[in-house]
Amino acid sequence: MNRDELKNFLDLATLAARAGGEVLKSYWGNLEEIQEKGRSGDLVTEADKASEEAILDVLKRHVPGHGILAEESGSLGESSSRYRWAIDPLDGTTNYAHQYPAFSTSIALSIDGVPQVGAVYSPFHDELFRAARGLGATRNAEPIRVSKTDSLDKSLLVTGFAYDRRETADNNYAEFCHLTHLTQGVRRGGSAALDLAYVACGRLDGYWERGLSPWDMAAGVVLVLEAGGRVSAYDRGPFQIESGRILATNGALHDPLSRALMETPPLSSW
Ligand code: IPD
Ligand code: CA
Ligand code: CA
Repeated sequence: MNRDELKNFLDLATLAARAGGEVLKSYWGNLEEIQEKGRSGDLVTEADKASEEAILDVLKRHVPGHGILAEESGSLGESSSRYRWAIDPLDGTTNYAHQYPAFSTSIALSIDGVPQVGAVYSPFHDELFRAARGLGATRNAEPIRVSKTDSLDKSLLVTGFAYDRRETADNNYAEFCHLTHLTQGVRRGGSAALDLAYVACGRLDGYWERGLSPWDMAAGVVLVLEAGGRVSAYDRGPFQIESGRILATNGALHDPLSRALMETPPLSSW
């Protein structure tokens, strides 16, 4: 794929991310309906659905032959296409429903299964993070780079807890305690896409999480890689989006953070 084609797809991802973001702004503070999607705490609102509609509208108009994986609608379009969009129309629904202003729209394009283009838009702060493979990463059109922090004791990290946290012992509580102990702090941002964007622009030094879906991660992964960071499985093996697990850092912290995760003591030892 040449640079111009990639740039066009990045512009399309941006258009879609902004279209969803405008919808989220219009519902902000005015939600009438908040439902649980089956699992306790997994919320969906009319804003998620309306944002997704606006995003799908943009993509269907411009690239009708592409495949789409959208959080609220599932798989759409051409399933045999090399081009597949991953859409999270509102990442950070719990924050949004409580009017805590950390949420985003997240739009990614994978080509032959590899995320190549990503746009993450934070409507409340009007921050647009964009990246495409080989074209670099930006925040509101300014180039961004990951931080230079090279030791855990100087780092600020972020993580999250999946909706199945009450049903599994693999719920990230032990890792959260362990890394809180070793670092200057571990935030729980509540929007995986924004967590990755903040690693990409150096506000945070590293991020890990389990139980995620492709639409949570795909755009943010492109941001982190293009900003000079590193993305892998917890054990530094190849990143596999279907695994739901991610370790993303500024690069310098990758090995120490991976080791700390792999050596996490059980919660009972605290
Ligand atoms: C959630 C957010 C959150 C993460 C959850 C995700 P949603 O997405 O990204 O940060 O911890 O695992 O499911 O439900 O707000 O789109
Ligand atoms: Ca999400
Ligand atoms: Ca969502």
